[in-house]
Amino acid sequence: MTIGKKTKSSKKITRNSERAAVKPHPAETAAAVKAPRGVKTPTLLRGMKDILPKEEWYWLKLFGTAQSLARAYGYAYMATPIVEEAALFIRSLGRGTDVVDKEMYIFEDRDGTRAALRPEWTASVARAYIGHGMHTWPQPVKVWCLGPMFRHDRPQAGRYRQFHQFGAEALGERHPAVDAELIILAYNFLRDLGIKSQVQINSIGNREDRERYLVELTGYLKSKRSYLCEDCKKRLIRNPLRVLDCKGEQCVMVIEESPQIVDWLSDGSKDFFVKVLEYLDELEVPYMLRATLVRGLDYYTDTVFELYEDGDVPPGGAQSALGGGGRYDGLVEQLGGRPTPASGFALGIERVISVLRRQYEAAGKDPTIGQTKIFFAHLGDQARRRTLALIERLRRDGIEVLHNVAKASLKAQLELAHKAGATHSLILGQKEVQDGTVIIRDMESGNQEVADQKKISLELQKIRKARG
Ligand code: HAM
Repeated sequence: MTIGKKTKSSKKITRNSERAAVKPHPAETAAAVKAPRGVKTPTLLRGMKDILPKEEWYWLKLFGTAQSLARAYGYAYMATPIVEEAALFIRSLGRGTDVVDKEMYIFEDRDGTRAALRPEWTASVARAYIGHGMHTWPQPVKVWCLGPMFRHDRPQAGRYRQFHQFGAEALGERHPAVDAELIILAYNFLRDLGIKSQVQINSIGNREDRERYLVELTGYLKSKRSYLCEDCKKRLIRNPLRVLDCKGEQCVMVIEESPQIVDWLSDGSKDFFVKVLEYLDELEVPYMLRATLVRGLDYYTDTVFELYEDGDVPPGGAQSALGGGGRYDGLVEQLGGRPTPASGFALGIERVISVLRRQYEAAGKDPTIGQTKIFFAHLGDQARRRTLALIERLRRDGIEVLHNVAKASLKAQLELAHKAGATHSLILGQKEVQDGTVIIRDMESGNQEVADQKKISLELQKIRKARG
């Protein structure tokens, strides 16, 4: 085919791609992209958040802690797509839950599929367990993930429409030790970050236990109907268990007096729950029994738990759980797989970071200050070339180096180093190129020393060690 010459097939391609193309919104037209005067600059959508470089320390700290702990407990990294069939979440989390009824981002994909941005990843793991035949792998299959989730909730402190979760799931084994291990993993994640937390725990039994309990609960809630909020009046008809999640002042009072699910547990579920608690005692994880804890999703069976910052515990606290989870023995089967017991949790990364930041601020500390930060400055063309080679070597030695080869003036480079918060600058001029040396300047004291170019990594490691 000759380029530039219109052939039959090229015309067809053009027509098809035109048909597939989405008509641009006026704000996306070429004129708008150029943003002439008077055109509004696009802004963030409500409930969304940019993670900026100044927050890097916190995010990397959490990524690192999640990765090392999850691996220490034998959980392997796994990632599922952000976009899934909407039906996966509707069937798993259940109609009548806030997440499905009010918060899911659902859209029709270009091929007509009803798709959703994942509001959580447990349902996706159950789907993947079936799809990849994971029942043939050594059980339990233990996986972890850290990634974005989406819920179109009313934004407020600690509640975003795009947020991140660190989650861990263990599928294929029904044993109280599996639940206890997940709880201690979540607890230790917070502890390793320096956050003292409290585990709240309950058991909601198996499906039959819950059905018997629901008859009792519904009768009680109907007798208190006039005290319930409008949402709970609707929940009473569609999914009475969800009334127990309500945080409304009036509803909380009704909930506190409600029949407790533990009194309806079968012997098997009671025994299982007691064993989970015994493991937690053994592992010295502090916990509190919370009889009204049922969690807001339908797939749970038996153990359910939530983690709170110590001192921020409901009732009375800010009621923003740092994380939660539980057993979901029926989910895989419900999605078409074979009966597969499973358990897991997810922690909200933004909420954990906010507690961490608050703790540092209260102690008057900034965790990012004090870290050794190196800026490499050069003077002259020859030094610029040599600098690039030296920086390359330092980076291979695992030393992070900032620089700006575009700037020629040393003054401008040192100003940049100051702005970037560099603790030390390496300076290479004509003389140092000839000598095979480099100047190491302490940016706080202004003291300078000369080092052999071959030993820069060693010198910087010594400095880093001395600073702690
Ligand atoms: P979840 O309780 O819906 O559980 O969410 C877990 C955590 O994610 C919450 O405790 C909270 O820290 C965080 N989170 C939830 N929604 C938001 C939001 N809009 N903004 C900021 N953070 C939020 C689950 O997602 C289950 N999949 C957990 C699980 C895993 N159960 C078994 N396996």
